Amino acid sequence: MANMTAQDLMGSGQRPQTPGERLRAEMLRLVGGLRSEGADDAAVFQSLFPRTILPAEVLETLASALVSGGHVLLFGPPGSGKTSLAKDLWALYPKKVLFVADCPVNDDPFSLVDESFSRTVPPCPFCKSRYAGVSIADLREFRTRDVDPSKVPVREGHLREGHGFSRIQGSSEVFPDNLTGTINLHRLEQLGDPTSPLVLEPGKLLQANRGLLIVDEIGKLPLGTQNVLLQALQESTVSPAKSRETFPAAFVAVCTSNLSDLDNINEPLSDRLQNVFVGFNREHRKNRMIVDLALRDRRLSSRYPDLLLETGVLLVEEWRRSTGEIYELSEVGSNRTMIDIALRSEAHAALDRDGKRTVGVEVFKKGAMDAMLGHIRARGGDSYVQDAKTVLEFLRKQTGEALHRAALEYWCTFFVEVLRRDKSEGKRVLDECRSALKAQPTEWAQVPLPKLARFAEYAAARETHKGGAGDLEVALGAFAIMQELDTFECGEPR
Ligand SMILES: Nc1ncnc2c1ncn2[C@@H]1O[C@H](COP(=O)(O)OP(=O)(O)OP(=O)(O)O)[C@@H](O)[C@H]1O
Ligand SMILES: [Mg+2]
Ligand SMILES: [Zn+2]
Repeated sequence: MANMTAQDLMGSGQRPQTPGERLRAEMLRLVGGLRSEGADDAAVFQSLFPRTILPAEVLETLASALVSGGHVLLFGPPGSGKTSLAKDLWALYPKKVLFVADCPVNDDPFSLVDESFSRTVPPCPFCKSRYAGVSIADLREFRTRDVDPSKVPVREGHLREGHGFSRIQGSSEVFPDNLTGTINLHRLEQLGDPTSPLVLEPGKLLQANRGLLIVDEIGKLPLGTQNVLLQALQESTVSPAKSRETFPAAFVAVCTSNLSDLDNINEPLSDRLQNVFVGFNREHRKNRMIVDLALRDRRLSSRYPDLLLETGVLLVEEWRRSTGEIYELSEVGSNRTMIDIALRSEAHAALDRDGKRTVGVEVFKKGAMDAMLGHIRARGGDSYVQDAKTVLEFLRKQTGEALHRAALEYWCTFFVEVLRRDKSEGKRVLDECRSALKAQPTEWAQVPLPKLARFAEYAAARETHKGGAGDLEVALGAFAIMQELDTFECGEPR
């Protein structure tokens, strides 16, 4: 590996690959590995994007768009996971690459020595000048046959932010120069060092060269800026401001947009992107996974009963079903809100003056209200008051129902799957739960609670946020909520 040159590379049998081809190869490699381990389609596509839980069809569509070599536009309602998907894609992107050792923009060595590849992805002006003698003032075309491959030093490195990865946050303030960067040829003559930041200030497109470009909220970019991006997608090159030199800008572009900004995307640009609709999950299990994933990272210190976590998810699902399209309210039913219900409830538990550190029904209600109100897009006073009323009315009508459904599901799953619908056994479990609840935790060890143990085992397996509590305590916590809500229909008799 020491002192490798482009000649060695050519002799090694390696083929040149565009960034899209490298991504394709990596995705096929990962998919192949997962399939050989026996994973089914759903698991395969979810594993490619592990932090973004979406319907398998959505992930499969995205995977096929990328494997086909396309650039993508992820569009959909707010908070559905578009940005999160784009980040997953960067995590998946193969980072190890070979560079021309002293190139300021990390040229692919094949751009200098493989004629057909150099037409797809041309080398930078510095390399053209250094290795083919095409000076910057020269009018001569660059040809790979003028390059001596044994003179081109090659180095292995890793793509990272600014070098093979960059991110643009769409807004009206992002100007073409931010994408193209600037080059000062006069300075270059004075300094002679192309890597000096005084000479070349690479823009976002050049920074993404060889890897991935994320354009968040692409519809919010001014049209002039969108055109610069279009040129890069068409030609894999970019010309820095006030320069006629072209630099390589070969990358895979992943753009995101809200539904309301789609119309602002320039048509020719939009035509070059494979559109992938990223909506909300219809499957309850997946919505719940989103919440669990978000909480897992934050290591909550409070106990959060599973059935209240379920209630939060059910509430948001109901909101999506029953609320029409009101712009200011579109974020209220998002995955972000769903996560926030959990976080705000936990925060209330942590702030609780008794220091119980347990999310109970009342604490949950406060958290749900905070989260949902907190995601109304604030407008003028009157409209906010109206929107808040809509949200509060919804919560007043639906919270009880959602709690009830969650509690019922919790108990019925136990009753059906563990007790096999044995009613008298169900009654014995309930009786033991009730007497244990009346006793002090210190007394639990002395009383034999054989039936309760079955329920505790079931609860322990379900509860993901135990906040340090023991199985019995956790089970009785869940039981206390069900008792408060009085939901044991399928367990009977009271
Ligand atoms: N499908 C999902 N799977 C896992 N997490 C999600 C999902 N959707 C949203 N989230 C979480 O919710 C938050 C917001 O998601 P994200 O920023 O990806 O949404 P978005 O679609 O880009 O929203 P916006 O349109 O407002 O930009 C993040 O913390 C993200 O991790
Ligand atoms: Mg986003
Ligand atoms: Zn170069």
